[in-house]
Amino acid sequence: MLEIGIDCVEISRFNRDITSKKNILKKIFTENEIQYCEKKVKTSQHYAVRYAGKEAIIKAFSCYKIEISMNQIEILNKKNGSPFVKILDDKLSDFNIKISLSHSREIAIAVVIVSKNSLNLNPLRDR
Ligand SMILES: CC(C)(COP(=O)(O)OP(=O)(O)OC[C@H]1O[C@@H](n2cnc3c(N)ncnc32)[C@H](O)[C@@H]1OP(=O)(O)O)[C@@H](O)C(=O)NCCC(=O)NCCS
Repeated sequence: MLEIGIDCVEISRFNRDITSKKNILKKIFTENEIQYCEKKVKTSQHYAVRYAGKEAIIKAFSCYKIEISMNQIEILNKKNGSPFVKILDDKLSDFNIKISLSHSREIAIAVVIVSKNSLNLNPLRDR
């Protein structure tokens, strides 16, 4: 079974008033994500797009009737910049997640596709 999720977030929600509060950040983001965002010049857009990604993933998993907390979802980047997702819960290791992120000056948006591992989302790449 294949599920999708989408979410968009206003970047201004992740202003310094919020992102300077480590206790709030840690409820939402993993340490690796915080390190990634804090290295960037416009930190708020990277936090916001990860937040959108997590909401989109939570939506997709809700179709499987599975609840995940924000900080159990880790969105990092490959060397070429493309994002990937790690779910920090071994019970969910047989799910495949594809994610795409984008941000403009004001809005961050994320789209995800989630499948059970039995369904291969990369038929050509994995040959
Ligand atoms: C990949 C590319 C299309 C992204 O365009 P963009 O307008 O900067 O992207 P947006 O602002 O809409 O979105 C930014 C998000 O795109 C994602 N992204 C970055 N590089 C990506 C890539 N190669 N493939 C897929 N997604 C990518 C990231 O998640 C990024 O957000 P994050 O840094 O907070 O994780 C553009 O950078 C490009 O054409 N690059 C040239 C080729 C390339 O791969 N360069 C990599 C550096 S060597």
